[in-house]
Amino acid sequence: MRLNDCHNIEDFRLLAKARLPWPVFDYIDGAADDELTKARNTDAYGSFDLVPDVLAGVETIDTSCTILGRKSALPLMLSPTAVQRAFHWQGETAVAKAAEKFGLWFGISSLATRSIEEIAALTSGPKLFQLYVHKDKGLNQSMIERCQASGFDALALTVDTIVSGKRERCLRSGFTTPPRFTPSAVWSYATRPRWTLDYLLREKFTLPNLDTHVEQGSSKAVSIADYFNTMLDTAMDWDTAATIRQDWGGKFALKGVMSARDARRAVDIGADAIMISNHGGRQLDGSRAPFDQLPEIVDAVGGEIEIICDGGVRRGTHALKSLCAGATAASGGRLYLYALAAAGQDGVERALGILKDEIERGMRLMGVTSTAQLDPSRIRRR
Ligand code: FNR
Ligand code: LAC
Repeated sequence: MRLNDCHNIEDFRLLAKARLPWPVFDYIDGAADDELTKARNTDAYGSFDLVPDVLAGVETIDTSCTILGRKSALPLMLSPTAVQRAFHWQGETAVAKAAEKFGLWFGISSLATRSIEEIAALTSGPKLFQLYVHKDKGLNQSMIERCQASGFDALALTVDTIVSGKRERCLRSGFTTPPRFTPSAVWSYATRPRWTLDYLLREKFTLPNLDTHVEQGSSKAVSIADYFNTMLDTAMDWDTAATIRQDWGGKFALKGVMSARDARRAVDIGADAIMISNHGGRQLDGSRAPFDQLPEIVDAVGGEIEIICDGGVRRGTHALKSLCAGATAASGGRLYLYALAAAGQDGVERALGILKDEIERGMRLMGVTSTAQLDPSRIRRR
């Protein structure tokens, strides 16, 4: 299988699986406990049906929308994800450039392998920084100030990772940041020479937004679970979020809100957006799918705050269904990560091209010429 054989996100997943050592693939693909929530995030889209109109004159259509004050060419964002250098040597650079080419928002993680400054210099497109609140307050302050100085467009505070989810695939593989060659996986690294040589011979793996303050994750290998459980601040609460919102001053999103009650509190602290998300099923397994939670959140805070539906998106029609159900946009991680892992920037561009085509085709087949027409009249629960 080669890149040109990839026609949907699942194809990129299979190509990534063939090209990556299994501990790395399982870190991307895996989720918490029984991985029920991860599966449900995508399945949820299958229990709703689109109701198209016809004869609508769809020669020219406008797929764009506005997210956090900037235009997005599609109603789709690329969610922030960690340690991309471990998936492909081009790392976050590939995703930033592909996002710019397609006119899309993307985010870098606190655990990014490219610095805030490097990413800001690379693209003038819309970009957000995802903040993990650390026990080290100086580190939190430093990340916020670096984002301000570099002109990041938004800050997303992740609130669903107060402790790590139980990711059993990572427990079995011993995946760490930076990746280490564990005895049980040596064969897998040896049989994926392209990944292994790129990892060993190309630029060094670092976490440049953290390593000014902590050595774990950069010069000292740790599992992601240990990193979360020792470094992050379990005392984080609504006061913390309100203070960060104030300190940052720019566009601000809470990532990982799931209840209507919390959506209301997000409005109260002056957040500009909420990302309804269960972290791709990697945290609380058994948590509801973001798409299933949309109606009650839209009822509670629709029109007062932007609502981004994050997780499980694998098709253009999933983004269209999110908009019909009242979301401002959809967002996803694995939808571009499998492609990054499979083939770097070329892979991400191909994946985004496919999703763009699916969104355009889906809108034409639904008889809509602008994303604003995607409303609840066009969707039904099966
Ligand atoms: C993530 N996600 C994530 N979220 C976050 O706030 N900070 C992070 O560092 C990461 N890192 C990360 C790594 C990997 C490998 C994955 C798959 C996910 C979660 C991410 O932003 C998003 O919420 C999910 O990816 C959404 O689910 P889908 O689209 O992958 O199904
Ligand atoms: C994850 C992180 C880093 O989901 O948020 O693995």
